[in-house]
Amino acid sequence: MYMRERLVISVSGKGGVGKTTISALLSRVLSEKTRRSLLLVDADPVINLPRALGVDVPASVGNIATEMRKSIDDGTLPASAAKQDILEGRIFESLVEGERFDFLAMGRTEGEGCYCYVNRLLTQILDRLSLNYEITLMDMSAGLEHFSRRTNRNVDVLIIVIDSSRAAFEAALRIRDLAKEVHIDFKKILIIGNRIPDNLIPAVSTGLEDNGLDLAGIVPTDNAIAELNYLGKPVFDLSASSPALHAVEGIAEDLGLLSEVTLLKLLGQA
Ligand SMILES: Nc1ncnc2c1ncn2[C@@H]1O[C@H](COP(=O)(O)OP(=O)(O)OP(=O)(O)O)[C@@H](O)[C@H]1O
Ligand SMILES: [Mg+2]
Repeated sequence: MYMRERLVISVSGKGGVGKTTISALLSRVLSEKTRRSLLLVDADPVINLPRALGVDVPASVGNIATEMRKSIDDGTLPASAAKQDILEGRIFESLVEGERFDFLAMGRTEGEGCYCYVNRLLTQILDRLSLNYEITLMDMSAGLEHFSRRTNRNVDVLIIVIDSSRAAFEAALRIRDLAKEVHIDFKKILIIGNRIPDNLIPAVSTGLEDNGLDLAGIVPTDNAIAELNYLGKPVFDLSASSPALHAVEGIAEDLGLLSEVTLLKLLGQA
C-alpha cells in the first residue's frame, strides 16, 4: 500500500536559546495556516511546551513507562504480558487530542537501572504514532533523547536554534555531527537564529556557511513573548502583529510548509 511520507521536524539547540518558544510559534503558524494534521511532542525531559501551547500538562510517556515497570516489579502485570502492546495502548490513550493539534509529552522514566530498552521502545512507539500525522513537531533538549533512525516513511528535518552566543554556535555544530553519527537521514538541517543582534547577523551567517550550515531565518526579540512567558500564558495569546510570529511564519513559508506540495518536493528532494 502506498503511504504518503510524513514530516517529522525536530527542534534542538543549546539550553535556553528559544527552542520551546520557536516550537510553540511554529505550532501556532502550522495550526492556523495549514490543514495538515499535527502532532506536537515535548521531547525535553523537563516538560515546558504545554504551557507555551496552553495545554494542560498530561501524563507523560515517562510516567506511563515508570508505572508499567512498577506493576511488572510488584507482580500486578505478569512478566509474560505483551508489554510493548500494553505500553503503546496506554501511550495512545495519554495523547491530548485538540482541535488544532494533538499533543504528547515524553517526560522521563524514573527509577534505577538502564533505560536503553525502555527508551528504544518509546522511540519506536513515537515513530509509529507519527505515521498518523502529516507533521510531527518535536521540542527536543540539546541531548537529543528521542533521536532514532526512523521508518522510511517519515521525512526528517532538523531545526537547530541558536542565539548569538559562541556556546550556542558550537552546540549547533555538535548537534549536527551527532545527528550524522546516529545515521538519521535528515533531508534538511537548518538553523534559526533567535534574538541575534543586527550587528552580528552577517558574521553569524558567514560562520554558519563556513561550516556548511544554512541560516533559514532570524526571529527577533519580542517583548510580548517574554511577558506571556512570565505570565504563564500561551503563544496563542500573542497578537497577530507580533514580529516574532511574523518571522516564524516567513520561515515556514520559505520552507514550503504552508503550501500543499508534497513534503519531499518542498524540501527539494523530489
Ligand atoms: N524571540 C524572543 N523574544 C523574547 N523573548 C524570548 C524570545 N525567545 C525566547 N524568549 C524567552 O527566553 C526564555 C527562554 O526561551 P525558551 O524557553 O523558548 O528556550 P529553550 O531553548 O526552550 O530553553 P530550555 O533549554 O530550558 O528548554 C523564555 O523566557 C522565553 O520567553
Ligand atoms: Mg525548552
